Amino acid sequence: MTETTEFKAWRVHEEGDRFTGREETLTLDTLPEGGVLVRLSHSSLNYKDALSASGNRGVTREYPHTPGIDAAGSVVEAAGDNPAPQTAVIVTGYDLGMNTPGGFGEYIRVPGSWVAQMPPGWDARKAMIYGTAGLTAGLCVSKLLRMGADKDDGPVAVNGASGAVGSVAVEILSVLGFEVVAISGKADYRAQLERLGAKEVLAREQLEEQKKPLLKPRFAHAVDTVGGHPLAELLKQIRPGGSVACCGLVAGPQLQTTVLPFILRGVNLLGVDSVEIPLNEKQAVWDRLASDWACPQTEQSARTIGRNELGGALQAFLKGESAGKIVLDHGL
Ligand SMILES: NC(=O)c1ccc[n+]([C@@H]2O[C@H](COP(=O)([O-])OP(=O)(O)OC[C@H]3O[C@@H](n4cnc5c(N)ncnc54)[C@H](OP(=O)(O)O)[C@@H]3O)[C@@H](O)[C@H]2O)c1
Repeated sequence: MTETTEFKAWRVHEEGDRFTGREETLTLDTLPEGGVLVRLSHSSLNYKDALSASGNRGVTREYPHTPGIDAAGSVVEAAGDNPAPQTAVIVTGYDLGMNTPGGFGEYIRVPGSWVAQMPPGWDARKAMIYGTAGLTAGLCVSKLLRMGADKDDGPVAVNGASGAVGSVAVEILSVLGFEVVAISGKADYRAQLERLGAKEVLAREQLEEQKKPLLKPRFAHAVDTVGGHPLAELLKQIRPGGSVACCGLVAGPQLQTTVLPFILRGVNLLGVDSVEIPLNEKQAVWDRLASDWACPQTEQSARTIGRNELGGALQAFLKGESAGKIVLDHGL
Protein backbone atom coordinates (compact mmCIF):
# COMPACT_ATOMS: atom_id res chain seq x y z
CA MET A 1 0.00 0.00 0.00
CA THR A 2 1.55 3.36 -1.05
CA GLU A 3 0.63 6.96 -0.39
CA THR A 4 -0.77 7.15 -3.94
CA THR A 5 -3.22 4.29 -3.33
CA GLU A 6 -6.69 5.55 -4.25
CA PHE A 7 -9.90 5.26 -2.24
CA LYS A 8 -13.45 6.64 -2.30
CA ALA A 9 -14.78 9.21 0.14
CA TRP A 10 -17.89 11.38 0.53
CA ARG A 11 -16.35 14.83 0.85
CA VAL A 12 -18.00 18.15 1.64
CA HIS A 13 -16.94 21.28 -0.27
CA GLU A 14 -17.60 24.92 0.53
CA GLU A 15 -18.98 26.58 -2.63
CA GLY A 16 -19.85 30.21 -2.01
CA ASP A 17 -22.34 30.13 0.86
CA ARG A 18 -23.30 26.49 0.17
CA PHE A 19 -21.82 23.24 1.44
CA THR A 20 -22.13 20.29 -0.93
CA GLY A 21 -21.15 16.67 -0.34
CA ARG A 22 -20.14 14.29 -3.13
CA GLU A 23 -18.31 11.08 -3.84
CA GLU A 24 -14.64 11.59 -4.73
CA THR A 25 -11.51 9.59 -5.35
CA LEU A 26 -8.69 10.51 -2.95
CA THR A 27 -5.22 9.13 -2.27
CA LEU A 28 -3.83 7.99 1.07
CA ASP A 29 -1.46 10.98 1.22
CA THR A 30 -4.52 13.21 1.88
CA LEU A 31 -4.87 11.54 5.32
CA PRO A 32 -2.91 12.72 8.38
CA GLU A 33 0.59 11.26 8.75
CA GLY A 34 1.55 8.58 11.28
CA GLY A 35 -0.78 6.60 13.51
CA VAL A 36 -2.94 3.68 12.46
CA LEU A 37 -4.28 3.25 8.91
CA VAL A 38 -7.69 1.58 8.99
CA ARG A 39 -9.69 0.24 6.01
CA LEU A 40 -13.31 0.93 6.89
CA SER A 41 -16.26 -1.23 5.99
CA HIS A 42 -18.89 0.72 7.99
CA SER A 43 -19.66 4.04 9.62
CA SER A 44 -22.72 5.35 11.43
CA LEU A 45 -24.75 8.56 11.04
CA ASN A 46 -25.00 11.10 13.84
CA TYR A 47 -26.45 14.58 14.22
CA LYS A 48 -22.89 15.92 14.49
CA ASP A 49 -22.14 14.57 10.99
CA ALA A 50 -25.11 16.54 9.65
CA LEU A 51 -23.69 19.65 11.31
CA SER A 52 -20.26 19.02 9.78
CA ALA A 53 -21.78 18.38 6.34
CA SER A 54 -23.79 21.60 6.51
CA GLY A 55 -20.83 23.86 7.31
CA ASN A 56 -21.15 24.23 11.08
CA ARG A 57 -17.80 25.80 12.06
CA GLY A 58 -18.23 24.68 15.66
CA VAL A 59 -17.76 21.13 14.35
CA THR A 60 -15.55 21.55 11.25
CA ARG A 61 -13.35 24.56 10.61
CA GLU A 62 -11.97 23.86 7.13
CA TYR A 63 -13.33 22.36 3.91
CA PRO A 64 -13.12 20.25 1.82
CA HIS A 65 -13.68 17.72 4.57
CA THR A 66 -14.76 14.07 4.99
CA PRO A 67 -17.28 13.82 7.90
CA GLY A 68 -18.05 10.70 9.95
CA ILE A 69 -17.46 10.66 13.73
CA ASP A 70 -17.85 6.85 13.84
CA ALA A 71 -15.83 4.22 12.01
CA ALA A 72 -15.25 0.47 12.05
CA GLY A 73 -13.00 -1.73 9.96
CA SER A 74 -9.65 -3.49 10.00
CA VAL A 75 -6.12 -2.26 10.54
CA VAL A 76 -3.95 -1.99 7.42
CA GLU A 77 -0.74 -0.73 9.02
CA ALA A 78 0.41 0.71 12.34
CA ALA A 79 3.74 1.69 13.88
CA GLY A 80 5.38 -1.41 15.38
CA ASP A 81 2.44 -3.49 14.07
CA ASN A 82 0.42 -2.42 17.13
CA PRO A 83 -2.43 -3.14 16.55
CA ALA A 84 -1.46 -5.91 14.14
CA PRO A 85 -2.66 -5.71 10.51
CA GLN A 86 -6.16 -7.22 10.04
CA THR A 87 -7.19 -6.44 13.64
CA ALA A 88 -10.86 -5.48 13.71
CA VAL A 89 -11.28 -2.08 15.37
CA ILE A 90 -13.74 0.70 16.26
CA VAL A 91 -12.89 4.42 16.23
CA THR A 92 -15.35 6.98 17.59
CA GLY A 93 -15.10 10.53 18.84
CA TYR A 94 -11.93 12.48 19.67
CA ASP A 95 -11.39 14.59 16.52
CA LEU A 96 -12.57 11.93 14.03
CA GLY A 97 -14.90 13.44 11.41
CA MET A 98 -14.56 16.92 12.93
CA ASN A 99 -11.22 18.25 11.65
CA THR A 100 -9.69 14.81 11.00
CA PRO A 101 -11.01 13.00 7.87
CA GLY A 102 -13.71 10.66 9.17
CA GLY A 103 -15.78 7.56 8.58
CA PHE A 104 -17.44 8.64 5.32
CA GLY A 105 -14.25 7.65 3.48
CA GLU A 106 -12.98 4.12 2.92
CA TYR A 107 -9.79 4.81 4.91
CA ILE A 108 -8.88 6.79 8.04
CA ARG A 109 -5.49 7.36 9.68
CA VAL A 110 -5.71 8.16 13.40
CA PRO A 111 -3.59 8.09 16.58
CA GLY A 112 -3.33 4.64 18.17
CA SER A 113 -4.89 6.05 21.36
CA TRP A 114 -8.22 6.45 19.46
CA VAL A 115 -8.44 2.81 18.34
CA ALA A 116 -10.66 0.39 20.32
CA GLN A 117 -10.68 -3.36 19.79
CA MET A 118 -13.76 -4.94 18.22
CA PRO A 119 -15.40 -6.95 21.04
CA PRO A 120 -15.63 -10.73 20.56
CA GLY A 121 -18.72 -11.73 18.55
CA TRP A 122 -19.14 -8.33 16.89
CA ASP A 123 -18.45 -7.27 13.32
CA ALA A 124 -18.09 -3.74 11.95
CA ARG A 125 -21.77 -3.40 11.04
CA LYS A 126 -22.90 -4.46 14.52
CA ALA A 127 -20.52 -1.94 16.11
CA MET A 128 -21.83 0.84 13.89
CA ILE A 129 -25.48 0.07 14.71
CA TYR A 130 -24.58 1.31 18.19
CA GLY A 131 -21.95 3.90 17.20
CA THR A 132 -21.49 7.04 19.28
CA ALA A 133 -25.20 7.10 20.21
CA GLY A 134 -25.08 3.58 21.68
CA LEU A 135 -21.77 4.31 23.39
CA THR A 136 -23.26 7.44 24.97
CA ALA A 137 -26.35 5.56 26.14
CA GLY A 138 -24.06 2.91 27.65
CA LEU A 139 -21.96 5.56 29.40
CA CYS A 140 -25.14 7.11 30.89
CA VAL A 141 -26.25 3.73 32.24
CA SER A 142 -22.75 3.05 33.48
CA LYS A 143 -22.71 6.31 35.47
CA LEU A 144 -26.10 5.54 37.04
CA LEU A 145 -24.89 2.09 38.06
CA ARG A 146 -21.68 3.51 39.51
CA MET A 147 -23.83 5.81 41.68
CA GLY A 148 -25.57 2.71 43.00
CA ALA A 149 -28.74 2.71 40.88
CA ASP A 150 -30.58 -0.57 41.33
CA LYS A 151 -33.51 -2.04 39.40
CA ASP A 152 -35.53 -2.22 42.62
CA ASP A 153 -35.18 1.53 43.24
CA GLY A 154 -38.29 2.38 41.17
CA PRO A 155 -39.04 3.91 37.76
CA VAL A 156 -36.17 5.31 35.67
CA ALA A 157 -37.08 8.06 33.18
CA VAL A 158 -35.45 8.39 29.75
CA ASN A 159 -36.00 11.81 28.23
CA GLY A 160 -35.75 12.19 24.43
CA ALA A 161 -36.59 8.48 24.34
CA SER A 162 -37.16 8.07 20.59
CA GLY A 163 -33.77 9.59 19.71
CA ALA A 164 -30.65 7.63 18.85
CA VAL A 165 -29.17 7.89 22.36
CA GLY A 166 -32.52 7.73 24.19
CA SER A 167 -33.79 4.62 22.42
CA VAL A 168 -30.63 2.62 23.21
CA ALA A 169 -30.78 3.85 26.82
CA VAL A 170 -34.40 2.61 27.06
CA GLU A 171 -33.37 -0.81 25.76
CA ILE A 172 -30.21 -1.24 27.88
CA LEU A 173 -32.07 -0.25 31.06
CA SER A 174 -34.95 -2.59 30.31
CA VAL A 175 -32.53 -5.43 29.47
CA LEU A 176 -31.03 -4.82 32.94
CA GLY A 177 -34.47 -5.15 34.52
CA PHE A 178 -35.16 -1.47 35.30
CA GLU A 179 -38.72 -0.18 35.08
CA VAL A 180 -38.29 2.33 32.26
CA VAL A 181 -40.55 5.35 31.75
CA ALA A 182 -39.94 6.75 28.27
CA ILE A 183 -40.61 10.47 27.84
CA SER A 184 -41.14 11.40 24.21
CA GLY A 185 -42.55 14.14 22.00
CA LYS A 186 -43.61 11.55 19.39
CA ALA A 187 -47.08 10.16 20.11
CA ASP A 188 -46.74 7.75 17.15
CA TYR A 189 -43.59 6.20 18.62
CA ARG A 190 -45.30 4.58 21.64
CA ALA A 191 -45.34 1.04 20.16
CA GLN A 192 -41.62 1.17 19.26
CA LEU A 193 -40.74 2.43 22.76
CA GLU A 194 -42.76 -0.39 24.30
CA ARG A 195 -40.96 -2.86 22.02
CA LEU A 196 -37.65 -1.50 23.36
CA GLY A 197 -38.92 -2.37 26.84
CA ALA A 198 -40.52 0.85 28.16
CA LYS A 199 -43.14 0.04 30.82
CA GLU A 200 -44.74 3.46 30.47
CA VAL A 201 -44.59 6.20 27.82
CA LEU A 202 -45.19 9.80 28.86
CA ALA A 203 -45.76 12.77 26.56
CA ARG A 204 -43.15 15.53 26.50
CA GLU A 205 -45.76 17.95 27.96
CA GLN A 206 -45.22 16.21 31.32
CA LEU A 207 -42.01 18.22 31.56
CA GLU A 208 -43.49 21.60 30.73
CA GLU A 209 -42.11 24.48 32.79
CA GLN A 210 -43.69 24.86 36.23
CA LYS A 211 -43.09 27.59 38.79
CA LYS A 212 -42.61 25.28 41.79
CA PRO A 213 -38.94 24.57 42.66
CA LEU A 214 -39.77 20.95 43.62
CA LEU A 215 -42.48 18.56 42.42
CA LYS A 216 -43.76 15.20 43.66
CA PRO A 217 -40.75 12.80 43.57
CA ARG A 218 -41.66 10.37 40.87
CA PHE A 219 -38.56 8.83 39.28
CA ALA A 220 -35.78 6.96 41.06
CA HIS A 221 -33.23 7.98 38.39
CA ALA A 222 -33.14 9.33 34.83
CA VAL A 223 -31.20 9.58 31.59
CA ASP A 224 -31.61 12.98 29.93
CA THR A 225 -30.60 13.53 26.27
CA VAL A 226 -32.47 16.83 25.98
CA GLY A 227 -31.09 19.47 28.42
CA GLY A 228 -32.80 22.87 28.72
CA HIS A 229 -35.98 23.33 30.73
CA PRO A 230 -37.15 19.66 30.39
CA LEU A 231 -34.03 18.63 32.35
CA ALA A 232 -34.76 21.28 34.99
CA GLU A 233 -38.31 19.89 35.36
CA LEU A 234 -37.01 16.33 35.54
CA LEU A 235 -34.64 17.24 38.38
CA LYS A 236 -37.62 18.48 40.41
CA GLN A 237 -39.23 15.02 40.15
CA ILE A 238 -36.29 12.79 41.16
CA ARG A 239 -36.64 10.84 44.38
CA PRO A 240 -34.22 11.49 47.29
CA GLY A 241 -30.75 10.14 46.54
CA GLY A 242 -31.53 9.57 42.86
CA SER A 243 -29.22 10.30 39.92
CA VAL A 244 -29.68 11.88 36.49
CA ALA A 245 -27.17 11.19 33.72
CA CYS A 246 -27.17 14.16 31.33
CA CYS A 247 -25.63 14.03 27.84
CA GLY A 248 -27.52 16.25 25.38
CA LEU A 249 -28.87 19.67 24.57
CA VAL A 250 -31.54 19.33 21.88
CA ALA A 251 -33.87 21.53 24.00
CA GLY A 252 -31.04 24.00 24.69
CA PRO A 253 -27.74 24.29 26.53
CA GLN A 254 -29.05 26.48 29.36
CA LEU A 255 -30.05 24.83 32.65
CA GLN A 256 -32.08 27.05 34.93
CA THR A 257 -32.69 25.32 38.21
CA THR A 258 -32.59 25.94 41.93
CA VAL A 259 -30.22 24.04 44.20
CA LEU A 260 -33.22 22.53 46.03
CA PRO A 261 -33.24 19.10 44.32
CA PHE A 262 -29.56 18.80 45.21
CA ILE A 263 -29.58 20.05 48.81
CA LEU A 264 -33.03 18.88 49.96
CA ARG A 265 -33.20 15.54 48.11
CA GLY A 266 -29.52 14.76 47.54
CA VAL A 267 -30.11 14.37 43.80
CA ASN A 268 -26.96 13.78 41.70
CA LEU A 269 -26.56 15.36 38.27
CA LEU A 270 -24.00 13.33 36.32
CA GLY A 271 -22.38 14.71 33.16
CA VAL A 272 -21.62 12.28 30.34
CA ASP A 273 -19.06 12.83 27.57
CA SER A 274 -18.48 10.11 24.96
CA VAL A 275 -15.91 12.00 22.87
CA GLU A 276 -12.76 12.82 24.84
CA ILE A 277 -12.85 10.20 27.59
CA PRO A 278 -9.94 7.71 27.82
CA LEU A 279 -10.13 4.78 25.42
CA ASN A 280 -10.39 2.19 28.21
CA GLU A 281 -13.70 3.74 29.34
CA LYS A 282 -15.07 3.43 25.79
CA GLN A 283 -13.74 -0.11 25.49
CA ALA A 284 -15.49 -1.17 28.71
CA VAL A 285 -18.86 0.02 27.32
CA TRP A 286 -18.29 -1.58 23.88
CA ASP A 287 -17.57 -4.87 25.64
CA ARG A 288 -20.80 -4.64 27.68
CA LEU A 289 -22.87 -3.72 24.59
CA ALA A 290 -21.49 -6.79 22.85
CA SER A 291 -22.41 -9.04 25.79
CA ASP A 292 -24.84 -8.51 28.67
CA TRP A 293 -26.06 -5.06 27.54
CA ALA A 294 -26.87 -6.14 23.96
CA CYS A 295 -30.00 -4.54 22.50
CA PRO A 296 -31.70 -6.97 20.08
CA GLN A 297 -34.48 -4.56 19.10
CA THR A 298 -32.02 -1.79 18.25
CA GLU A 299 -29.93 -4.26 16.25
CA GLN A 300 -32.95 -5.52 14.29
CA SER A 301 -34.36 -2.13 13.42
CA ALA A 302 -31.18 -0.41 12.10
CA ARG A 303 -31.22 0.78 8.49
CA THR A 304 -28.22 0.41 6.15
CA ILE A 305 -27.39 2.91 3.40
CA GLY A 306 -24.63 3.46 0.82
CA ARG A 307 -22.54 6.62 0.30
CA ASN A 308 -24.90 7.76 -2.48
CA GLU A 309 -27.70 8.11 0.12
CA LEU A 310 -25.69 10.17 2.62
CA GLY A 311 -26.85 13.59 1.41
CA GLY A 312 -30.56 12.88 1.95
CA ALA A 313 -30.04 11.02 5.22
CA LEU A 314 -28.02 13.89 6.72
CA GLN A 315 -30.63 16.44 5.64
CA ALA A 316 -33.28 14.41 7.50
CA PHE A 317 -31.26 14.81 10.72
CA LEU A 318 -31.20 18.58 10.32
CA LYS A 319 -34.98 18.66 9.75
CA GLY A 320 -35.57 16.48 12.84
CA GLU A 321 -37.08 13.78 10.58
CA SER A 322 -34.51 11.05 11.24
CA ALA A 323 -35.56 8.06 13.36
CA GLY A 324 -33.71 4.95 14.47
CA LYS A 325 -30.10 4.07 13.77
CA ILE A 326 -28.57 4.42 10.28
CA VAL A 327 -25.43 2.52 9.30
CA LEU A 328 -23.23 3.46 6.32
CA ASP A 329 -21.94 0.42 4.41
CA HIS A 330 -18.95 1.29 2.21
CA GLY A 331 -19.56 -1.84 0.16
CA LEU A 332 -23.01 -0.73 -1.04
N1 LIG B 1 -22.37 13.92 25.47
C1 LIG B 1 -22.03 13.22 24.40
O1 LIG B 1 -20.91 12.70 24.27
C2 LIG B 1 -23.05 13.03 23.32
C3 LIG B 1 -22.94 11.96 22.43
C4 LIG B 1 -23.97 11.77 21.49
C5 LIG B 1 -25.03 12.67 21.43
N2 LIG B 1 -25.05 13.71 22.31
C6 LIG B 1 -26.14 14.66 22.34
O2 LIG B 1 -27.28 13.99 22.81
C7 LIG B 1 -28.44 14.57 22.26
C8 LIG B 1 -29.29 13.49 21.62
O3 LIG B 1 -28.57 12.92 20.54
P1 LIG B 1 -29.29 11.88 19.57
O4 LIG B 1 -28.24 11.36 18.67
O5 LIG B 1 -30.11 10.94 20.37
O6 LIG B 1 -30.23 12.88 18.77
P2 LIG B 1 -31.61 12.56 18.05
O7 LIG B 1 -31.59 11.18 17.47
O8 LIG B 1 -31.85 13.71 17.14
O9 LIG B 1 -32.66 12.54 19.26
C9 LIG B 1 -32.97 13.61 20.08
C10 LIG B 1 -34.36 13.39 20.64
O10 LIG B 1 -34.66 14.43 21.56
C11 LIG B 1 -36.04 14.71 21.52
N3 LIG B 1 -36.21 16.14 21.21
C12 LIG B 1 -35.96 16.78 20.06
N4 LIG B 1 -36.19 18.09 20.18
C13 LIG B 1 -36.59 18.29 21.44
C14 LIG B 1 -37.00 19.44 22.17
N5 LIG B 1 -37.01 20.65 21.64
N6 LIG B 1 -37.35 19.28 23.45
C15 LIG B 1 -37.34 18.06 24.00
N7 LIG B 1 -36.98 16.94 23.35
C16 LIG B 1 -36.60 17.05 22.09
C17 LIG B 1 -36.64 13.87 20.45
O11 LIG B 1 -37.10 12.69 21.08
P3 LIG B 1 -38.61 12.54 21.56
O12 LIG B 1 -39.46 13.04 20.45
O13 LIG B 1 -38.75 11.09 21.82
O14 LIG B 1 -38.73 13.39 22.79
C18 LIG B 1 -35.45 13.50 19.59
O15 LIG B 1 -35.65 12.27 18.93
C19 LIG B 1 -27.94 15.63 21.27
O16 LIG B 1 -27.96 16.89 21.92
C20 LIG B 1 -26.52 15.21 20.99
O17 LIG B 1 -25.71 16.31 20.62
C21 LIG B 1 -24.09 13.90 23.24
